[in-house]
Amino acid sequence: NRKHPESFEMFDFARSPYPMTRMRRIRRHDWSRRLVAEHALGVNDLIWPLFVHDGQQPIDVESLPGVQRLSVDGVCRAAEQACGWGIPAIAIFPATPAELKTEEAREAVNPQNLVCRTVRKIKAAVGDSLGVICDVALDPYSIHGHDGIVRDGDVVNDETVEVLKQQAVVQADAGCDIIAPSDMMDGRIGAIRQALESNGHTNVHIMSYAAKYASAFYGPFRDAVGSKGNLAGASKKTYQQSPSQTDEALHEVALDLAEGADSVMVKPGMPYLDIVARVKSTFGVPTFAYQVSGEYAMLAAAAERGWLDKEATVLESLLAFKRAGADGVLTYWAPQVAQWLHRDVQDQ
Ligand code: PBG
Repeated sequence: NRKHPESFEMFDFARSPYPMTRMRRIRRHDWSRRLVAEHALGVNDLIWPLFVHDGQQPIDVESLPGVQRLSVDGVCRAAEQACGWGIPAIAIFPATPAELKTEEAREAVNPQNLVCRTVRKIKAAVGDSLGVICDVALDPYSIHGHDGIVRDGDVVNDETVEVLKQQAVVQADAGCDIIAPSDMMDGRIGAIRQALESNGHTNVHIMSYAAKYASAFYGPFRDAVGSKGNLAGASKKTYQQSPSQTDEALHEVALDLAEGADSVMVKPGMPYLDIVARVKSTFGVPTFAYQVSGEYAMLAAAAERGWLDKEATVLESLLAFKRAGADGVLTYWAPQVAQWLHRDVQDQ
């Protein structure tokens, strides 16, 4: 408008009784809000964590209302549903029978353990239409509930890594697509990568729980897999990060990427969105967040009492992950969210 500078001078905004900019204009209609939307949550953002147990009937997890431990067949049916909804991946966690738990968690490396049997069955049913993620850590298999081997009250690093390598290989042998080490031992990503390569699993992806905090939000998960044990003996704080740390999370991510991680995860989710944002903006790699059991429990409990609108708060919480830069979210809400999103598409 260089041609008509005078036309601007004719309207003196400073003297106008009207606001120069009306932010509310674009908020007025649904179409307009949709048109300007910077972020959206889709079914492709969801990873569904599932608990498997060795019985036939589903068992409720009391501290996770709406979540159950399913039989092997039940998890297979859930996997088929996930495919139907277009959820790209699921993560399997075992509730190991107490009689199979030992001090050294040997069941973790048994090729016939619950996780391996479940993965084989899922893969036979759904093939490559769904990614299957397995945790690597010893807590579901140890009496004490620690993620590694305990010697003299200490979770020993290098000896644990040797077992984690075997655990990763038996899971990959069973057909697991993504190995997700959640143990926080030093050097485990490189060691697991080498073990996978030398056992012919060059295409198995590693999603490292790179920045995993020593959080009180994991309580209901420990109920679900029965890993509460007597953690008091030694603290997970000696291997999981302190909630006071930011730079340390970036250091962890840098190490895991250097050691061969294909993608990284931040955990928990909602209280650590600053970490998600910094990891994504610093490294620009596939970045996931885990909306953990305690986060689910908070929303579920308030919704159950009618204190919060379940659908609105769940969707808002998940959109926040997208805004922070997450490429996907592990969430126990995945099946509900997938159904809500499909209903909305049908309504339009
Ligand atoms: C185990 C593991 C934990 C979770 C995922 N993998 C618990 C822990 O570290 O004690 C927590 C997930 C959740 O709370 O939903 N290494």
